[in-house]
Amino acid sequence: MKMTAAVMYEQGLPTPYAESGPFRIEEVDLEGPGEGEVLVEVRGAGLCHSDLSQVAGIRKRTLPVVGGHEGAGIVREVGKGVTQVKEGDHVVMTVVAGCGCCRPCIESRPVLCNGITASRAQGLLANGMRRISRNGEPIYHYSGVSSFAQYAITLPGSLIKVDPAVPLDVAAMFGCAVVTGAGSVFNAAQVRPGQNVAVFGLGGVGLNAVMAARISGASEIIGIDINESKFSLARELGCTHTLSATSADLVTQVKDLTNGGVDFAFEVSGSKAAMQSAVALTRKGGQVVCVGLGAFGDMYQYDHASLVADEKVFRGSFMGSCVPERDLPRYLKFFQDGKMPVDKLKSGTMCFDQLNHNLDLLDRGEVVRQVLLP
Ligand code: APR
Ligand code: ZN
Ligand code: ZN
Repeated sequence: MKMTAAVMYEQGLPTPYAESGPFRIEEVDLEGPGEGEVLVEVRGAGLCHSDLSQVAGIRKRTLPVVGGHEGAGIVREVGKGVTQVKEGDHVVMTVVAGCGCCRPCIESRPVLCNGITASRAQGLLANGMRRISRNGEPIYHYSGVSSFAQYAITLPGSLIKVDPAVPLDVAAMFGCAVVTGAGSVFNAAQVRPGQNVAVFGLGGVGLNAVMAARISGASEIIGIDINESKFSLARELGCTHTLSATSADLVTQVKDLTNGGVDFAFEVSGSKAAMQSAVALTRKGGQVVCVGLGAFGDMYQYDHASLVADEKVFRGSFMGSCVPERDLPRYLKFFQDGKMPVDKLKSGTMCFDQLNHNLDLLDRGEVVRQVLLP
């Protein structure tokens, strides 16, 4: 079938993206669904900071590629052998589709699945197939999702059913922003009632960490950003304090508020400076959870003796260390019960032609989540 999609041919184009145009809006061919595959009509696709990183070329991708890794839609056709979803189901699309049989998958850590890591790098679906082309030339999939398109061919493992009562432009944000931010708190840190947290970066992902910390019963939830326009929404969603990342006495302020430092600091901006502050304002025995994708090659130093004496823990958390089929229904229930007002993260909607301009808005920190309605 023919469909409209946002295709990226080159990484590392200069800003402003509204002028250099990293995404070209084109008619492409979509084949399938083949055996074990699902055709989804995309009804919402969120624009995430990782899309900016992809456009900037922080990690090389197989090109050309249809962008988008956060989305939701309606199942329109299922291939032979698919039993998990059926035509008409509303679904959230996620990049975490573990094979189910490698060692990380068996240990309930599908974000580390050996198989999806390899297929993601090659721009293929996890079954090794590629279903997009243009004039007979190959176009690749982005993380098995490619939601910046009218339709997507995905594998059932990438799809989580969602109650049709949840608007699909809101459901879209569950695929990355919600699962990544909330999962860093619930799965990676496992924050307990009364503990203190700091969240660096109050974007779509960081604000989900804030909401999850509130649900966990954290006592002080300190939101930190370089952009103070993010503070009012952050307070509405659960921050007890908001502080500027550029303030000279940031570490002292946080230590004063938390009797010596936070139990958990979440780095959700991908910034090296934020990571260094996060380490400094975490109390002895506390944990630094690194969620934002930094630039490849960024390195950190830490004093060996202090590591021993202070017992700080450093850990990464990718995609909220999630098990999608376990976690997404829980988060969707939180949303439906009013505990996680994810709809407030949606700054607006856009059509294909506004995608490049919206990269600029996100880059300048002027929006939280813009959702593409293909
Ligand atoms: N300290 C604190 N906040 C910072 C800093 C810093 N040094 N640098 C940037 N920020 C803030 C920005 O002002 C913005 O509010 O981090 C926030 C990032 O938000 P978004 O651009 O909306 O990014 P988001 O989609 O939430 O993703 C955050 O998670 O998935 C990863 O790759 C993604 O690294 C990205 C991170
Ligand atoms: Zn696996
Ligand atoms: Zn993302």
